[in-house]
Amino acid sequence: MMCPKTELHNGLSFGTRSVLLCLILTFTVCVAEQSELICSHQPIVALAGDDVILPCYLDPPISASSKTVVWTRPGLDPKYIHVHYSPVYLRQNPSYNNRTRLFDDELQNGNVSMKIFKVKISDAGKYFCTLRSMLKEASIQLTVGAVSTPIIEVVAYSTTNSVLQCESKGWYPEPEVVWLDGEGNLLSAGPTETVRGPDDLYTVSSRVTVENIHHNFTCRVQQKDINQTRETHFNFIDGSVPAGTIVVTVSVPVFVVILAIFICWKCCSKS
Ligand SMILES: *[C@@H]1O[C@H](CO)[C@@H](O)[C@H](O)[C@H]1NC(C)=O
Ligand SMILES: *[C@@H]1O[C@H](CO)[C@@H](O)[C@H](O)[C@H]1NC(C)=O
Ligand SMILES: *[C@@H]1O[C@H](CO)[C@@H](O)[C@H](O)[C@H]1NC(C)=O
Ligand SMILES: *[C@@H]1O[C@H](CO)[C@@H](O)[C@H](O)[C@H]1NC(C)=O
Repeated sequence: MMCPKTELHNGLSFGTRSVLLCLILTFTVCVAEQSELICSHQPIVALAGDDVILPCYLDPPISASSKTVVWTRPGLDPKYIHVHYSPVYLRQNPSYNNRTRLFDDELQNGNVSMKIFKVKISDAGKYFCTLRSMLKEASIQLTVGAVSTPIIEVVAYSTTNSVLQCESKGWYPEPEVVWLDGEGNLLSAGPTETVRGPDDLYTVSSRVTVENIHHNFTCRVQQKDINQTRETHFNFIDGSVPAGTIVVTVSVPVFVVILAIFICWKCCSKS
């Protein structure tokens, strides 16, 4: 670099100051180049409706306050999720309007993490954080799930055996359903019925036939990708059998009696 030599009144030559400036600039650029942009390698898991932070930072820390920080999701149009300090206008994807922020106080420590408010299932995917001036880019995966507590109903009831149905609405991704007895042993149940709603959420239901003698049953709905489990217990002792199902208890013997009379009548009329 050309550093002109011009004596100034304050004694320090312009040349010396230029050299100092050159050194400082070189130092800054060096530090900037050594700094790495690091985003979490682990996927970030959140439940729909939660606020979530996608952690990314410069290490060693240098201020990103007056640098252009751009968060994008390739594949979306427009792909810009959040833009900080850009000399040109980059249109934000409208589905993220008013839902993102960077942390002003943290930017000066090189922390370029982005917060997304009220995440949606559709927010799941790969995000990129880019610092153009430093030619740095890193990516981070966001996984979004949805859960709900199952509900157990008695769909058939007799004094010895009953059929229980467990239903849970509003899961994402698709969960699995298991039944457990009072000792925590797996019960063999019918196949799980799965329905996907227009909102992309799954409703699952499963039926199991149980002996009433085991009093405490558990329906457990679980999703391993988002590490979530919801369960509901059912207890015959609590008098949880709804009045409507008692009809089945009464009507089965009545039906048997009618059938017996009918068979008798058929037999009698033959002879
Ligand atoms: C974002 O906030 C502004 C001002 O509060 C409001 O006018 C705009 O409708 C909001 N946009 C969305 C998508 O909620
Ligand atoms: C970055 O800022 C966020 C929000 O304040 C904070 O949760 C996170 O711990 C910070 N990360 C680092 C590496 O300081
Ligand atoms: C039923 O079992 C679960 C654990 O499997 C337990 O947490 C719950 O308290 C039990 N309920 C009753 C009424 O015994
Ligand atoms: C899953 O969740 C449980 C409790 O909620 C926690 O103890 C465990 O560390 C979590 N596992 C993973 C892999 O996140």
